Amino acid sequence: MITALAGAQWGDEGKGKIIDIMAAKADVVVRATGGNNAGHTVVSDGKTYKLHLVPSGILYDGTVCCIGPGCVVDPLSLLKEMAEVEANGTSVDGLRIDWRAHIVMPYHLVIDELSELAKGAGDIGTTRKGIGPCYMDKAERVGIRFYDLTHPEVFAEKLRAMLENKKKYIVGMFGKEAYDARADKLDYDKVLAAYSDAAAKLVRYGADTTVIAYNAHKEGKNVLFEGAQGTLLDLDMGTYPYVTSSHPVTGGFCVSGGIGPTLIDECIGIAKCYTTRVGKGPFPTELFDETGDYIREAGAEYGVTTGRPRRCGWLDLVILRYAVRINGLTGIALNKLDTLTGLKEIKVCTGYDMGGEIVTDFPADIRELEKCTPVYETLPGWTEDITKATKLDDLPAAAANYIKFIEKEIGCKVILVGVGPDRTQSFPA
Ligand code: GDP
Ligand code: IMO
Ligand code: MG
Repeated sequence: MITALAGAQWGDEGKGKIIDIMAAKADVVVRATGGNNAGHTVVSDGKTYKLHLVPSGILYDGTVCCIGPGCVVDPLSLLKEMAEVEANGTSVDGLRIDWRAHIVMPYHLVIDELSELAKGAGDIGTTRKGIGPCYMDKAERVGIRFYDLTHPEVFAEKLRAMLENKKKYIVGMFGKEAYDARADKLDYDKVLAAYSDAAAKLVRYGADTTVIAYNAHKEGKNVLFEGAQGTLLDLDMGTYPYVTSSHPVTGGFCVSGGIGPTLIDECIGIAKCYTTRVGKGPFPTELFDETGDYIREAGAEYGVTTGRPRRCGWLDLVILRYAVRINGLTGIALNKLDTLTGLKEIKVCTGYDMGGEIVTDFPADIRELEKCTPVYETLPGWTEDITKATKLDDLPAAAANYIKFIEKEIGCKVILVGVGPDRTQSFPA
């Protein structure tokens, strides 16, 4: 059985928690896109794990956790993360890194930082982990892959050429001063030493992860594809240019995880029962008032990777409908219902008003999206503590109605409800 789990909004939907729960029954977990721009939280037995590139299935002994072909790997950051996981008493022996994955190099970090600075107020608000520049090199076919990194002669030669090219690029684009201030990070001997050392430590995890996933499937085992980011951060389907540089939609698992579309049995979208985003870009249901602050504090909405406060707003069903369509969702895992407890009324956006016309399909371009004002339906809230609920019947009527309303509006079943951060605080709906 192959299950794909994708973020249905702008990321941070609680994917880490759901993947960890579902990984209990998985033999193989595969991350296929993105890099350490992701921040996935798993809470188990009072311990909080913050994972960035290591798949969220790592907490189970014997689960093979793959960093797939379409991921970008910062080897220094990955080693740090692996050490943190091990310090928590968890083995990383099950980790595998696809030979095809591209390597985030120090010049990618420098270029990410400098291009954001050069954009000024028009910046994207990236995580500055070098993700975009790394995918640029991949698309230009000059990138360094995990295979190259772990073959010393190949790496040494490619690195020398790339550092020369990037120096020209950085000086040309951002000026000599900007380059000189960062020259130390781009010194050939230093980069070669640090990356060769990392390569020596990581080479034992090298694999063709597409074979691992396919063979597991053929043997009747369970394979989970772990989404990072979210549908609206997809390079094609998201709110371009305020997106990431990979394909977090379920189709991305096929292209970037190397799995044929007909082999995926289930596509589950992970959503929060309100909306958040970090970084810049349009967000129709964003709240700038005390309700937004209430949601941010009650939901602890601060970035796992950058610590930035997340922008918060009401649930947007135009977005969820879009996610259902684009990802071919067979079910939704709805997280953080407990965060809304205590609100007298809950608003839900059912459509957009675009100059008098009601739009229910998410616009293809942000300039159209900017013309949209949300149309809200107001539903009653609840005050009861729901963090110990273990079934739908335990929920107050208003909370159960909220779920039913969502299902009816988006035409997709809510299959899992989250009422707290711990792996035990979710139940099938
Ligand atoms: P991800 O990037 O999709 O894995 O999500 P993040 O980890 O960035 O952000 C989700 C946050 O919500 C984390 O702090 C989780 O521990 C927390 N969380 C997940 N599900 C629930 C839930 O149902 N209720 C509450 N209160 N917190 C949750
Ligand atoms: P998880 O997996 C939320 C956002 C950044 C920025 C844009 C581009 O935890 O849900 P990038 O560094 O990727 O070039 O930044 O994408 N972004 C995320 N937002 N959750 C994430 O991951 C994100 N990964 C990238 O904030 O707006
Ligand atoms: Mg996150």
